[in-house]
Amino acid sequence: MSKDIDIFLGRRKKLLKKLKSNSAVVIATNPFQTRSRDTEFTFRPDSDFYYLTGFSEPNAVLLLINSPQPQSILFCKERDAFKEMWDGNITGTKRAKQNFGFDKAYDINLIDQEMPNLISGIYTVYYSMAALNNLHDSLMRWSKAVSKTRYKSKAPKVFEDIDETIHEMRIIKDNHEKDIMRKSAQIAASAHINAMKACKPGMYEFELESEFLYEFKKHGSTVSYDSIVGAGNNACVLHYRENSSKIKSGDLILIDAGCEYKMYASDITRTFPANGKFTNAQKEIYEIVYEANRAAIKKVVPGNIWSDPHDAAVRVITRGLVELGLLKGNVNQLIKNNAHTEYFMHKTGHWLGIDVHDVGRYLDGEKPRKFIPGMITTIEPGIYISNNSRAPKKYRGIGIRLEDDVLVTKSKPEILTKDVPITINAIEHLMASNP
Ligand code: GLY
Ligand code: MN
Ligand code: MN
Repeated sequence: MSKDIDIFLGRRKKLLKKLKSNSAVVIATNPFQTRSRDTEFTFRPDSDFYYLTGFSEPNAVLLLINSPQPQSILFCKERDAFKEMWDGNITGTKRAKQNFGFDKAYDINLIDQEMPNLISGIYTVYYSMAALNNLHDSLMRWSKAVSKTRYKSKAPKVFEDIDETIHEMRIIKDNHEKDIMRKSAQIAASAHINAMKACKPGMYEFELESEFLYEFKKHGSTVSYDSIVGAGNNACVLHYRENSSKIKSGDLILIDAGCEYKMYASDITRTFPANGKFTNAQKEIYEIVYEANRAAIKKVVPGNIWSDPHDAAVRVITRGLVELGLLKGNVNQLIKNNAHTEYFMHKTGHWLGIDVHDVGRYLDGEKPRKFIPGMITTIEPGIYISNNSRAPKKYRGIGIRLEDDVLVTKSKPEILTKDVPITINAIEHLMASNP
């Protein structure tokens, strides 16, 4: 059994220890999603299912039993020479046990037959009430099947949501995950560098997007979300995804793009001038966002609360906008009034991991929770001054976001995305080397 498998086995054991006695957890992987008529989107496993199994094939269900002996059981596709000729390798039940460390594995086609026997006598059944699958209906069917037998009293009595228990495990990344996240960030960083180098006025936004698709695939990864490539005023559309405009000299280009490597996301935003040189007005706004990014990152340390980076970014941005005359008034009063939201409409970060907007609570009760080593957050302040803004004309059409992925360590924050240039000098220097 490989070392990776021990990691997944360890997670299953850890989860079982958190459950009530005489319980079971059932977690299904994602269903296929139709793209058009009879074609499907590329299959992606359910994140929680993958976290606990390392198993990437469709049509699979995990059953963990906490009574009387802990058991880990997989339902998966059975091997089939004909299907494998068309669609490729199937792991099958025998190899699922051998290679993935399950105690038992059954053909997924037998799940309606086997599951009632396996959950008979289990008091509490946990499952995800929010997952994309129809497990709820299946669980009711399996439970009813137990009720219909002479052992009616053995049907499960309680159904509980499992999400938070797994998500609180996922929010703290182990060493294996940290290494993958570092690599995911490095691949995305190198794609951002390639885009800066490739950029020429007159290109279309989608030509820059192709730099990301190429670099991600070249490293065995894929996109963790559709890339945002917005030139000029498009940079002010927060979730712009058309990526279809022609890039003009004098535009700033905002690119928010990250990859998914071995199932883990990176999420980076950089903003740079199409012609390689920032104008004075662009520099003024850029310096504020840069300073907000650095001030926020400094706050990503144990003991600080999750909202501290945002508060730091808001302070820097509010002060900067007052200095430039885009906001008028007393900085503290403007902060109290959330005046920054005219130009900085979103929050400064989110958890990052298997999902780009990763799981894990943001609050402890009513209060923002504290940072703990092993958490990974994005830090992504921005200023967006659209063409419709009331700001002085020289600032209109400037949208800037600077997003890094940051690991909480025992001491200083580790910026996983540090390989992409972020200062004005470093970006202009890199772009000056364009052929
Ligand atoms: N790319 C999505 C985000 O920054 O939240
Ligand atoms: Mn992003
Ligand atoms: Mn983000």
